Amino acid sequence: MEKKRILTGDRPTGRLHIGHYFGSLKNRVKMQNEGIYDPFILIADVQALTDNFNNPEKVRKNVREVAMDYLSVGIDPEKTTIYIQSLVPETAELTVFYANLVTIARLERNPTVKTEIAQKRDIFGESVTYGFLGYPVSQAADITAFNGELVPVGEDQLPLIEQCREIVRKFNSIYGEVLKEPEAVLSNTKRIKGLDGNEKMGKSLGNAIYLSDPEDEVNRKVMSAVTDPNRIKKDDLGNPDICMVYYYHKLFSTDEECKTVCSECKEGKRGCVACKKQLAQNINKELNPIREKRKYYEEHPEIVDKILKEGTAKAREEAKRTMKKVKKAMMLDYFED
Ligand code: TRP
Repeated sequence: MEKKRILTGDRPTGRLHIGHYFGSLKNRVKMQNEGIYDPFILIADVQALTDNFNNPEKVRKNVREVAMDYLSVGIDPEKTTIYIQSLVPETAELTVFYANLVTIARLERNPTVKTEIAQKRDIFGESVTYGFLGYPVSQAADITAFNGELVPVGEDQLPLIEQCREIVRKFNSIYGEVLKEPEAVLSNTKRIKGLDGNEKMGKSLGNAIYLSDPEDEVNRKVMSAVTDPNRIKKDDLGNPDICMVYYYHKLFSTDEECKTVCSECKEGKRGCVACKKQLAQNINKELNPIREKRKYYEEHPEIVDKILKEGTAKAREEAKRTMKKVKKAMMLDYFED
């Protein structure tokens, strides 16, 4: 049986954190190991530049950081193709062709893009760049150049997949059935809140625990997590449902521990400091094997580079095959090659 092609990716704008871990990485590792998929992961440096065009150092540095994060959580380059977006220029070419199949009004209506533009006023001011407004078009190229069939995503990415599907249908209706229409797979994982209780964990919010954070950093961050503000003394009755420490216990601690944490907190029998220490310990236990593996790759950058080079070469072959079909369909195949 043909293995189904999965496409996922991340913008390399920072190291990956536990929000990524629960939100996508664990799921990617699981799907990779099921043996019925052929996963591709792109490190979307070109897309990262759409809102970081003035900070190329940041993007450059984080390409390898993100690659090491992937490898350290168990993305296996034998099973998953990891590649760098800018090194597959075919996707840029495809983006130009797709640009004719999308209206500006449609892009402006894309809810994800709309939200992001509103959040990025500091970069874009009153008028967004052509590149950022058009990144869904480039993402459609990222997916279709590799015949992506399944795209596991969080809810926020759904409008991008829908936009991709529209482009595919339009392309196929004009030039013939060449492209595969991808399907979004909504991962059952949820978005992880930040240490401060913010709905989103993120670098710019300063509320993230990174997979590569050393133990003492995790300890320090957990100590700063927001707890029930009405609980001042240990014997005050607490409400774990508004406590970020309990929220993370549910991710990192056993069911039994969670039950104890919950009941002791409600009864005022548990101090927040002890509760945080226990949580930090459990987080560190989960992160230790990841740190171990990461350390290995940090000490062997040549291995990381080899994996990226080989993955990119394989991805490029695939994109070239698609481009050939696309150009033929668009009557751009002027000469035999
Ligand atoms: N937009 C995605 C993000 O911000 C990254 C991405 C770029 C992507 N190209 C993709 C994801 C193709 C899936 C498929 O996380």
